[in-house]
Amino acid sequence: MQNFIFQNPVKILFGKNQIASIAAEIPVNARVLMIYGGGSIQQNGVYKQVKQALAKHIVFEFRGIEPNPCLETLIEAIDLVRTERIDFLLAVGGGSVLDGTKFIAAASSFEGDPWDILAKQAPILHALPLGAVMTLPATGSEMNAFFVVTKAATQEKLVGFSPSVYPQFSVLDPTTTFSLPPWQISNGIVDAFTHTIEQYLTYPVNAPLQDRMAEAILKTLIEEGPKTLKNSTDYDARANVMWCATMALNGLIGVGVPQDWSTHEIGHELTALYGLAHAQSLAVILPSMMQFKRAAKREKLLQYAERIWNITDGNENQRIDTAIVNTKSFFESVGVSTCLANYRLHSEQISEICQHMKNRGSVALGEYSNIGLEDVEKVLTLSL
Ligand code: NZQ
Ligand code: ZN
Repeated sequence: MQNFIFQNPVKILFGKNQIASIAAEIPVNARVLMIYGGGSIQQNGVYKQVKQALAKHIVFEFRGIEPNPCLETLIEAIDLVRTERIDFLLAVGGGSVLDGTKFIAAASSFEGDPWDILAKQAPILHALPLGAVMTLPATGSEMNAFFVVTKAATQEKLVGFSPSVYPQFSVLDPTTTFSLPPWQISNGIVDAFTHTIEQYLTYPVNAPLQDRMAEAILKTLIEEGPKTLKNSTDYDARANVMWCATMALNGLIGVGVPQDWSTHEIGHELTALYGLAHAQSLAVILPSMMQFKRAAKREKLLQYAERIWNITDGNENQRIDTAIVNTKSFFESVGVSTCLANYRLHSEQISEICQHMKNRGSVALGEYSNIGLEDVEKVLTLSL
């Protein structure tokens, strides 16, 4: 196992009626900015629950964080934070709202161009405290310190990280997810599955606990995911998927092991350039990346085949083939297509994607940092 330092300060408030508890988590005299998306929280009753819980607090609102939050929108929120002297941020919604809120928290007192926080990984010296009410199980943002922001003007989607933007608390009430359209639930399943794979499917370092934890998440998603799609008010299934999504990216399964975030890195380009939903981009890339890197990932692919898909028959190549086919079929079975063509993307777009990546600098992805641009092109070609 590799050396690691692990610290995760997020307090999780999990279960029914937990939104009512947030009042005790936010200082009574705070000037709170409640930040949300396009209005789903007004339709499903979450907005009302938050307002009731914070009846004694001073609450301002910022509405309109879009999926794949845009810098341009977040700048408007930062202006409001400064004018109203906000000192606590509350994100209410999905990963985009929470990521946007983390960026606002970091950028509000940042001197200089806030985009530098992502483009130049400028250090964040201070961030406003924040909390979250998460209504979409997918990203794990509720218990990590990552945030992903898109600059619409240049079609760049970049990832930031700072320990200062861990939420102080996150509410996970599975009943808030009952109103999700099925395709968003599907996206969440694929996103959490891919996060787990990217911290698992590399090379062995004798870390059986991390492996078993990752396998538990994958198995649970395979078993519980379809149940959540069949019955949108199956509380237990929703609760299990929600906790899987959190556990998939709160840092625990990734400690001490190599990681390969190449699928996410390439996926972000597809979203930035062509508007694919985050999980759609991952479903397209992940099976092709497994195929392309099958030699380097051989041992873990065989372990994955046996422990996740119970594949023990056939020679090694056949077992790996079946594991990749099963992964694709699982994504398709929950309703997320794995082919570029189904998103109207063809070979012309592959060169465009590679050019876009090239313009942003050198490309060295994967657990060995050896996936270059020509490899990205081959992976994308496998996804046609
Ligand atoms: O905007 P509203 O009206 O709230 O509607 C949202 C949005 O349209 C809707 N929604 C959310 N909860 C709902 C609901 N509709 C009905 N009922 C509910 N309970 O769902 C739509 C999509 O929401 P969004 O927040 O965009 O989805 P998700 O949670 O999948 O977040 C995706 C973003 O997170 C980033 C992605 O790149 C993408 O920008 N990621 C963040 C990560 C992190 N912070 O660690 C890691 C991930 O890999 C990912 O990159
Ligand atoms: Zn993701």
